[in-house]
Amino acid sequence: MIWESNKDLRNHNTFGVSAKCAYFTTVHSVAEVETAVREAPAPILLLGGGSNVLFTGDLPAAVLHMALPGIHIVQETSDQVHVAVGGGVRWHDLVLWAVSHGYGGIENLALIPGNAGAAPIQNIGAYGVEVASVIEAVEAYDLQNKEVLRFPSEVCEFGYRTSVFKTDYRNKLLILRLHLRLNKHPVLHLEYGAIRDELSYMGIAHPDVRSVSQAVIRIRQSKLPDPAKLGNAGSFFKNPVVSRAVYEDLLSKYPAMPHYPVDDSQVKIPAAWLIDQLGWKGHRQGDAGVHHRHALVLVNYGTATGQQLIELSSSIRHSVHERFGIVLETEVNIVG
Ligand code: EPU
Repeated sequence: MIWESNKDLRNHNTFGVSAKCAYFTTVHSVAEVETAVREAPAPILLLGGGSNVLFTGDLPAAVLHMALPGIHIVQETSDQVHVAVGGGVRWHDLVLWAVSHGYGGIENLALIPGNAGAAPIQNIGAYGVEVASVIEAVEAYDLQNKEVLRFPSEVCEFGYRTSVFKTDYRNKLLILRLHLRLNKHPVLHLEYGAIRDELSYMGIAHPDVRSVSQAVIRIRQSKLPDPAKLGNAGSFFKNPVVSRAVYEDLLSKYPAMPHYPVDDSQVKIPAAWLIDQLGWKGHRQGDAGVHHRHALVLVNYGTATGQQLIELSSSIRHSVHERFGIVLETEVNIVG
């Protein structure tokens, strides 16, 4: 097992932020995971695609970069396919694979950056679908007891951008494989946001998984920056969930405020709208900025440091709190 020392992680996080780790290695199999865990010369830090992380400084850690490959059909019935996916598979490649076979379930999750192994941790979601809806089980390596565990979906405690992997098991498990259930007779989810409008703009009267994924790709490309061109990690904050009383008070002051009911007592407010109201969109402090087309996306124009992005996020959080009385929580993992 080769450990690179003093490695800059700039090419391993979609923010493109420079941060050096003490040691670094890439693992491609369960056997390599076992060796790396046994031989790690410093405390282990797990890294997948680096698409939801902000490094705020150098790390005295042994970074284990997950690259387990493979998409395999394990079982097939007339209605469903059960697919095992290596944690290192790029999430969007998996979506393209499913779409090319006509399998339904993840077409609304097209173009989400990051690897399959990270998808269940924050229960990635977009356009009315969350990955939890297709997960049958998650296989993970327990770093402490050094064994492979299987988590059936019922014990994963999936919620809005959260799961047991983000809470109780944070940094204790390495996700090896996902077991997904995809549908051979897809039920399309077209209700959310601009999907129907985009499909009709594309001239598609009878959508299928492919056209839905294409509509999602077009919507995302029209408003979210491509991390390969402009450093970012998607939504920087979570959408806050507030009580109905707080929501009604805000709505009386801001009748145009978008909102989504969560249940009878709670309402989700788009953080992007709150931030946008305060004029942050397009704001730039050195190389750290707020994207000009989406107020929830912080961007690195080149040489921003993690600290500079954190400072910008703190100013945004402060001003949202001052004006709306809402405390924003970060969606991106802050590491350092
Ligand atoms: N809006 C503004 N100003 C902006 C951008 C948006 O006022 O600059 C308003 C929009 O008009 C809309 C509302 O805010 O009424 C919500 O915007 P959008 O549909 O773009 O979705 P979002 O709530 O900002 C969430 C997810 C995204 C996901 C989209 C689409 C979170 C934290 N983010 O964003 O996920 O792609 O919905 O489903 O839940 C991510 O997690 O990294 C991510 C990109």
